[in-house]
Amino acid sequence: MSLKVHQGKALITGASTGMGAVYADRLAKRGYDLVLAARDETKLNAVASQLRASYSVEVTVHAADLTNPTALDNVETLLKTDQDINLLVNNAGLGAVTKLAESNINDIETMISLNVIALTRLSSAIVPQFISKGQGAIINIASIVALAPELLNGAYSGSKAYVVNFTQSMHHELADKGIRVQAVLPGAIDTPFWDKSGLPVNNLPAQIVMTPEKLVDAALAGFDLGEVITIPSLPNIEDWHALEHARKALAPNLSHTTPAERYLSVA
Ligand SMILES: NC(=O)c1ccc[n+]([C@@H]2O[C@H](COP(=O)([O-])OP(=O)(O)OC[C@H]3O[C@@H](n4cnc5c(N)ncnc54)[C@H](OP(=O)(O)O)[C@@H]3O)[C@@H](O)[C@H]2O)c1
Repeated sequence: MSLKVHQGKALITGASTGMGAVYADRLAKRGYDLVLAARDETKLNAVASQLRASYSVEVTVHAADLTNPTALDNVETLLKTDQDINLLVNNAGLGAVTKLAESNINDIETMISLNVIALTRLSSAIVPQFISKGQGAIINIASIVALAPELLNGAYSGSKAYVVNFTQSMHHELADKGIRVQAVLPGAIDTPFWDKSGLPVNNLPAQIVMTPEKLVDAALAGFDLGEVITIPSLPNIEDWHALEHARKALAPNLSHTTPAERYLSVA
């Protein structure tokens, strides 16, 4: 007899490989039924078959290119209509490692479309349902480059800074309505992401690279701890709190009737 408690249903984007496939495994193990979304239906079906064989959960597959407006709209409709979904994991993402002048702007636009637009539209689609139920959770996969714009491509780090900002804003708006949100900021993780980005992971120092299994287990531990921002590699969480404290200390001085004195003296 299984003692596992049924947790509801999670929709995971980018569940065909990498971290998304590990999230699928860990959430199935916790007792979630799953909807797995990504483009590669064959890989999604392989992940789904494995999970059905290992855990007593229902797994459905939704093949969708989330940069395609029609396909994205279909997933939004699913989130608006399936009342069993109580967890959205916005994990699908693309990276870029080249400097702006050396980047293909159409590839950058596709990346922004996936990392920013799809994540925003999917969150927007599920939030009203969560508000009406007074519960639900969204996990957004950001990156440590959100805090390090000097690393990799600026549009990539900017897209992930957006994810952090958007998550903090959603927490501000939704925490008192029973809705949990979390942004996860992985460092370098050994997934196909690096090959697709044109910088195979073996170009990185091995001591900064984590496995996707360790990343997801730590991220879910952070979720269980109630964290809004989870930085799995960061040894001392007080370092993050110090940065947040400094950011919030700026607030009373970010909007005044007159410019700061240093600008008046040179005008
Ligand atoms: N690996 C790292 O070092 C690292 C570090 C920090 C943050 N991240 C972030 O972690 C997340 C997961 O990446 P990963 O490392 O696990 O890489 P990954 O193995 O390449 O996984 C990316 C997932 O996104 C899906 N995807 C890509 N384009 C898509 C599209 N147009 N529509 C729908 N799904 C799409 C892919 O599936 P299909 O190809 O089947 O569509 C795949 O399932 C991303 O948001 C990434 O930015 C990664």
